[in-house]
Amino acid sequence: MSVRTENTDPIKKKTKSLCYFVTEKSDLPLGFAKTNQKLTESVKEAVKETKAKLGAISIVHTHGMIPAQRILVAGLGPRHKATHESFRTTAGKIAKKIADMGLDEYCMVIPSNLPVKSPVGAIVEGARLALYSFDKYKKDKRTKLPNLTILSADQNVPQTVAKSNVVSEGVIYTRSIANLPPNECNPAQLAGFAKSLSVKNKLKCTVLSKSELRHKGFGGISAVGQGSKNEPKLIILEYNGKKDANPVVLVGKAVTFDTGGISIKPADKMDEMKFDKCGGCTVLGIIKAASELKLPVNLIGIVPSVENMPGGESYRPGDIIKLYDGKTSEILNTDAEGRLILFDALSYGIKTYKPKEILDFATLTGACIVALGANVAGLVSNNQKIADKLAKSAQSTGEQIWQLPINDDYMDMIKSDYADIRNTGPGRVAGTITAAAFLANAVGNTPWAHFDIAGTAWVQAGSKEKSYNPKGATGFGVRLILDYLSSP
Ligand code: BES
Ligand code: MN
Ligand code: ZN
Repeated sequence: MSVRTENTDPIKKKTKSLCYFVTEKSDLPLGFAKTNQKLTESVKEAVKETKAKLGAISIVHTHGMIPAQRILVAGLGPRHKATHESFRTTAGKIAKKIADMGLDEYCMVIPSNLPVKSPVGAIVEGARLALYSFDKYKKDKRTKLPNLTILSADQNVPQTVAKSNVVSEGVIYTRSIANLPPNECNPAQLAGFAKSLSVKNKLKCTVLSKSELRHKGFGGISAVGQGSKNEPKLIILEYNGKKDANPVVLVGKAVTFDTGGISIKPADKMDEMKFDKCGGCTVLGIIKAASELKLPVNLIGIVPSVENMPGGESYRPGDIIKLYDGKTSEILNTDAEGRLILFDALSYGIKTYKPKEILDFATLTGACIVALGANVAGLVSNNQKIADKLAKSAQSTGEQIWQLPINDDYMDMIKSDYADIRNTGPGRVAGTITAAAFLANAVGNTPWAHFDIAGTAWVQAGSKEKSYNPKGATGFGVRLILDYLSSP
């Protein structure tokens, strides 16, 4: 699908469908001009049918009264409750309706008197993200997606549309890799996708192999990766958007399949562990979009990628391994593998790039889903300024986060009897925080924020149904961090 802007009077626009928003307690849609009494009456009827409930849609045929073939009205809910998120949701519903009807194009009317400031970005995201579907392996693919024309007189709208197109494509890129089955996306294949991206977007890409990882002391990645014949990789992507500035380092967990290893998981829903690479995919999507937007920032993406398998060469509970910074870790559970590979990537990133801040993304703990559900990601940070700025970006993108505490008591919970640290806490208490505490040992004083996206990275049991999040990977974090990086 494509989205473009036009400054045309809606009443004069020839289109298959002219779409309007309507808020509760008004009898006509926002920006609707009464030109034809009969048409106005039928539009009023349509508005009544929707009751302006959030996402409700009603359609009126115009029978030649205006050049547009139909008028579609879509509810936003109560005016005082309208947010960017309501526009995103409703725009997603409209896009799906238009696609279901088989129309090849439609227009949306964006008047100036809307209940929230500049919702156009959210509208573009809602439409584009709703129409994504993972059909690579289906014979019957959805063929033509409708193109959208935004009708607006606002001078800033074309630029907003251009930006939101790039952001949405970043999310879709993340989804389309994250959705791949584990037999089609092992660490080497993931590295291949990163390489292709680097060629296309003129980025620097380095991939460390199994033997390089071993020799350079990446004990965490090496241990977790040793059980699979699909060898581990460390993928590094560099984008330079600003001269002489310390970079922001983005680290993403990419376990292309997590069986649990020797501490094997039960069979139920194990297939969903193909999504254990989502953190890494999020990092790739952020860097793709940031480089296309030419954001004035330096970014380093570090994606440790492994397949966590049981086998004759697997690491085991009881093993003691040496991590990249020289600390030793006792392994108590081979299913707590994410923190081991992230530890190496974080300490490597800090040592090599002296980042001004380091952010990591990981489907790290089931405990995070227990604590926060499937719509809110866990945030742990050692820097309140970063956490507060992230909260603002969460507000404007609708990608929700909730900060959890970290302190020395939690750090004590992962001290080991036989090594410096151990890879699980005592029992299941505070599972998300003890995992973060493990990572905190790698980052020291470097400003750091950790996102546990176990609940939000894909649509799962307990996920709120969202028009713009179809089945599968959501691409969570891409919009959030692009907003964060573009904000002052
Ligand atoms: N990838 C999983 C976490 C996960 C589980 C994410 C379910 C999304 C849905 C992670 O590697 C894991 O297995 N964590 C363990 C840690 C435990 C052994 C300390 C968990 O959460 O059970
Ligand atoms: Mn695991
Ligand atoms: Zn995992």
